[in-house]
Amino acid sequence: MPVVTYLNIVHTYISMISNSYLVFSKMVTSFFSIYGSHVVQAPQSGSLQNQKTRRSHHCKMGDNVDLEKCFEVVSNLVSEAGRLIARNNETRQEFVTKSNDIDLVTQTDKDVELLLMDGIRRHFPDHKFIGEEESSGEEGVKNLTDDPTWIIDPVDGTMNFVHAFPHSCISVGLKVNKVTELGLVYNPILEQRFTARRGHGAFYNGRRIHVSGQKELGKSLITSEFGTTRDEAKMKVVNENFEKMAKRAHGLRVLGSAALNMSMVALGAADANYEFGIHAWDVCAGDLIVREAGGVVIDPAGGEFDIMSRRVLAAATPELAQEITKVLTQFYPLPRDD
Ligand code: IPD
Repeated sequence: MPVVTYLNIVHTYISMISNSYLVFSKMVTSFFSIYGSHVVQAPQSGSLQNQKTRRSHHCKMGDNVDLEKCFEVVSNLVSEAGRLIARNNETRQEFVTKSNDIDLVTQTDKDVELLLMDGIRRHFPDHKFIGEEESSGEEGVKNLTDDPTWIIDPVDGTMNFVHAFPHSCISVGLKVNKVTELGLVYNPILEQRFTARRGHGAFYNGRRIHVSGQKELGKSLITSEFGTTRDEAKMKVVNENFEKMAKRAHGLRVLGSAALNMSMVALGAADANYEFGIHAWDVCAGDLIVREAGGVVIDPAGGEFDIMSRRVLAAATPELAQEITKVLTQFYPLPRDD
């Protein structure tokens, strides 16, 4: 081999080795510049640097919620609790009164609320709850925060349940960052299960459902309630509105459960539902189910729906909702839920 060729080969090898060394040393330098300062020179706890690092890594608890798992867990629990309700609904139930003589609670309400809360806590120990029966205790309704919060009515339609009238249901919604992500309304006596996940549509016993699309009050079937108080001012408004609706709508129905009334709007069986005096747990799930079925849920005076206001209007279309707001005599129940 000529000497020149031999020298060329040696030169090539040397430059390859030195290039590799350069690349390797650059990798080592950048490794230490990325990780070295954190690992080796970790700032003292409480220092500004440490606070900044912690803040930049901070993410809200709600950002990591596994909604798929939440839905699966609560669906199973609701089925279990439903068996208890269906069994006990075979006979009339003992009850005690809460805020007045027509605001009732049974042992089943309490048992179902505990069953749901304990079951959810086992899987999601950090989650919060706003439950009807817990909220009627001394502490009252807890504040809604950004944390994942389950809003639970263990038996919606307790008056029906006490009388073994087969229209009672479990109503559960999950809010994350104050947005309702999933909702279930389950009447285990008639096997009616309404479900919705935000952005995934609404379902009745597994079948996709849609609101009726009705725009005119004159052709609408309306649901509402007498409510669970005999407060005179409230009763006056309730009766006035029933009279107005009876004169204008196709018909008026009172199922005895706010959550089932709203589910009927989602199903397209009723065209609108309004009520003054409901609580967050009566309507949290129903609100999502109606909206996922293509309907609207607003304040009965026309503004945005406020889950703590104890006022709700759900309708198949915005046109129908607007027409109803113009007809209704308004009522603002106190205290609010927050
Ligand atoms: C009640 C029922 C009732 C409605 C009330 C709700 P509860 O819930 O849904 O039909 O008129 O506003 O509070 O007490 O049976 O859970």
